[in-house]
Amino acid sequence: ELGKYRHYMQKEIFEQPQALANTLEPIAGAGIISPQIFGAEAVDVLKATRRVLILACGTSYHSGFTARYWLESVAKIPCTVEIASEYRYRESVPETDTLVVVISQSGETADTLAALKHAKSLGMTKTLAICNVPESAIVREAALRFITRAGPEIGVASTKAFTTQLAALALLTLALAKVNGRLSAEQESGYLTQLRHLPVAVGKVLDLEPEIERWAQRFASKQHALFLGRGSHWPIAMEGALKLKEISYIHAESYAAGELKHGPLALVDKDMPVIAVAPADELLEKLKSNLQEVRARGGELYVFADAGSEMPETEGVHILHMPEHYGLLSPVLHVIPLQLLSYHAALVKGTDVDKPRNLAKSVTVE
Ligand code: M6R
Repeated sequence: ELGKYRHYMQKEIFEQPQALANTLEPIAGAGIISPQIFGAEAVDVLKATRRVLILACGTSYHSGFTARYWLESVAKIPCTVEIASEYRYRESVPETDTLVVVISQSGETADTLAALKHAKSLGMTKTLAICNVPESAIVREAALRFITRAGPEIGVASTKAFTTQLAALALLTLALAKVNGRLSAEQESGYLTQLRHLPVAVGKVLDLEPEIERWAQRFASKQHALFLGRGSHWPIAMEGALKLKEISYIHAESYAAGELKHGPLALVDKDMPVIAVAPADELLEKLKSNLQEVRARGGELYVFADAGSEMPETEGVHILHMPEHYGLLSPVLHVIPLQLLSYHAALVKGTDVDKPRNLAKSVTVE
């Protein structure tokens, strides 16, 4: 069943172009985005949506956090993202014009299901599940649904579920923008072209595996790592840190790069590798100055930059250029090398990649 792959995680990382193509099938031949892909009643619900509340756990929380940047910048809809286990137990102020979006690979995560029920009990009845398992409890509990078509994910570390969730959330962003009159026909066709090209773009990033493997060998001996990103790539830095600690047991933390000098910079020395997610966007110059601060303290830098970025390799600064800059959807591409990095670091360390200690694939207990 594993074919040419050594582990399910590796297989699932490499299945991402196909998983994305399958998930994006509803727009494959269409020149327009149809809100009905979220359910027959979706048009009215999306039209009445004034804010979005996203609830999820773990990796699914990170896809929701990425989508927040898209929803606010493209659809102009205020969005809050909350960890399901926090939301369900805190006193919050319900607003009924909110679309509650729950994201879950398994559809069985106890806290996410309970958070959805809690939101409904507060009167928030407009609910959407983005899920990889059609018959799951979370899908049954939600009014609208979008099923990602990642296929079964066996590895405990979530990979293809994450990128297909991002694809679903990009579609949601476009649908919300469209029904609320915030998407010109030209923008719509531009985004759809980008989405349709996504599987090919991801395929090209996967070709970077040999180089990433070399990087992994360099820092698999480290005890700690710091992941930095800004904007929609901050959640990607968070996801990279989660992947690394989950399967290689290297302690990893992620920070919004602007937070560096507010505390974590004190940790940086030659034994603290810093991984930076550095797309060629409007925040790149800010990020570069954060990276100089790291370098000045002797921290070794591993930078995932975009094609064409002017970032020279120097002593202690390793740069890997992504094949292309991908605009709004760049987070989908930038997470791939981080998945590969943690996979190869785990291989060097000899950990049980598909079944990391203490973890279960589906967290059905609280
Ligand atoms: O099935 P879910 O998406 O609801 O699961 C949520 C988390 O348990 C899950 O994403 C977990 O963080 C992964 N093991 C991360 O790789």
